[in-house]
Amino acid sequence: MKDLISLHDITTEEFEQILSLTEKLKKETKAGIPHHILKGKTLAMVFAKSSTRTRVSFEVGMTQLGGYPLVLSSNDLQLGRGESIYDTAKVLERFVDGIMIRTFDHSDVVELAEHANVPVINGLTDLLHPCQALADLFTVYEHKGTLAGLKLAYVGDGNNVCHSLLFACAKAGMNMSVATPKGYECDQNIWEMAQSDAAKSGAILTQSADPIEAMSNADVVCTDTWVSMGQEDEKEARVKIFKDYQVNSTLFGKAKSDAIFIHCLPAYRGYEVTEDIIDGPRSVIFDEAENRMHVQKAVMALLMG
Ligand code: CP
Ligand code: NVA
Repeated sequence: MKDLISLHDITTEEFEQILSLTEKLKKETKAGIPHHILKGKTLAMVFAKSSTRTRVSFEVGMTQLGGYPLVLSSNDLQLGRGESIYDTAKVLERFVDGIMIRTFDHSDVVELAEHANVPVINGLTDLLHPCQALADLFTVYEHKGTLAGLKLAYVGDGNNVCHSLLFACAKAGMNMSVATPKGYECDQNIWEMAQSDAAKSGAILTQSADPIEAMSNADVVCTDTWVSMGQEDEKEARVKIFKDYQVNSTLFGKAKSDAIFIHCLPAYRGYEVTEDIIDGPRSVIFDEAENRMHVQKAVMALLMG
């Protein structure tokens, strides 16, 4: 594993290795045991989109590993003025030991990883958000004690977060039911790749337009914003299209009585989820946010150590 671009690209063993190293690093962090695995190393973090969690969790995580995080907005880089991905990759690799990038086009991250001879970590593209899905499943594991055989219901937009969760669930042998409005289903190519991963682990992945059906028997309930970064112009239309996909007490009530609620954040209360659910006793959103740092430390340690 040179890069972390898509969870589809990693083996089940690598997936398990990331989660078990996460558990170890989290325990050590809580106990105040230092682990300077990346002492003297530098991670460049390139942002073409806003971020709270990704930026802070990578920056603090890299510092805790003894390394140096270098935050770069793509507007400050010549990349923002048209310098090629190729030249950016060849220059950055001369200075840093790893690159984390958050951008729009997934193909830009693939191209960067192809040309940079240092590890590249996908910090979100329009297509995928692998670090988020790793943190999500680690959080589920902490709360449920297992992953294989559980059911996750994802209600809302068939977007980057949903795509990476499909790959993660398929790897973990977790069942996942997606409910989206017609026209907002998952990317067909991603869906087929996830199904082929699922065939190996025995996970059952289903997709429909029926949120009630998706919720039935769910151990974990997940949603995400209806308006992802870059879709701001579609907000008015999307709010109408997605209104029956809101996770509220009626819909959440269709899941198992001990189901937990996850959301990658930022959340828009009153839209994709109501306040009583996201701020309720079964919501684990802040554990999930914290776990971004622990899983990413594991990813950086494995790729850059
Ligand atoms: N969940 C997530 O990636 O949050 P940020 O956009 O704040 O990084
Ligand atoms: N789907 C959202 C996730 C934000 C972390 C977006 O792409 O904006």
